[in-house]
Amino acid sequence: MILGNDIRLRALEREDLPRCVAWLNDPEVTAGLQIPTPLSLIQEEAWFERILKHPVEEQPLAIEVLLNDTWTHIGIIGFDTINWQSRVAEVGIFIGEKTFWNQGWGTRAMRLMLKHAFNTLNLNRVKLFVYESNPRAIQSYKKAGFVEEGRMRQERFINGKFVDAVFMGILRSEWQDAD
Ligand SMILES: CC(C)(COP(=O)(O)OP(=O)(O)OC[C@H]1O[C@@H](n2cnc3c(N)ncnc32)[C@H](O)[C@@H]1OP(=O)(O)O)[C@@H](O)C(=O)NCCC(=O)NCCS
Repeated sequence: MILGNDIRLRALEREDLPRCVAWLNDPEVTAGLQIPTPLSLIQEEAWFERILKHPVEEQPLAIEVLLNDTWTHIGIIGFDTINWQSRVAEVGIFIGEKTFWNQGWGTRAMRLMLKHAFNTLNLNRVKLFVYESNPRAIQSYKKAGFVEEGRMRQERFINGKFVDAVFMGILRSEWQDAD
């Protein structure tokens, strides 16, 4: 368990998968992700089986927030690939419960993940990419300390338009523990 203030990151369980499938079939949620087609529970279970074989540090984590004395699962965060020689990780996040958007939870989950990266895993750099059509995500990443490092022009076709992929990163030397 990675504990913050009223927010925690725990291991994803098989019982979480139906909830994740519902989230990942919502076009508003998937617009910023790389999941353009409907997803079945069986496909999600197959993904879960594959990911269980990955190193523990690369396992997806459930984001839970404490509201009225109850922990509520609102999304997923995880390091996709970690290069231990260069100490670089790529991070991904989504909050599937849309009623929780724009309340700072995404930024706080990311800050907690950065604390885990720099304080526990001893990484030196965390990176991500985000589509330019996702200003909420970009603003949230900036608040967590990421800066834009480059772009791939017209990398993805979303809602009838080609959009740039924006590359962002944060170094350990730039990171300020804020949660
Ligand atoms: C991206 C995501 C993780 C951000 O989490 P969140 O909890 O909604 O974000 P936060 O509330 O921490 O921050 C959002 C910021 O964006 C701002 N924002 C929202 N909509 C915006 C818009 N259209 N243009 C510019 N800024 C916007 C908010 O005002 C807030 O900034 P502020 O605190 O300075 O006012 C979440 O919205 C999400 O999971 N979305 C769907 C999946 C997704 O896109 N994942 C990311 C893939 S790269």
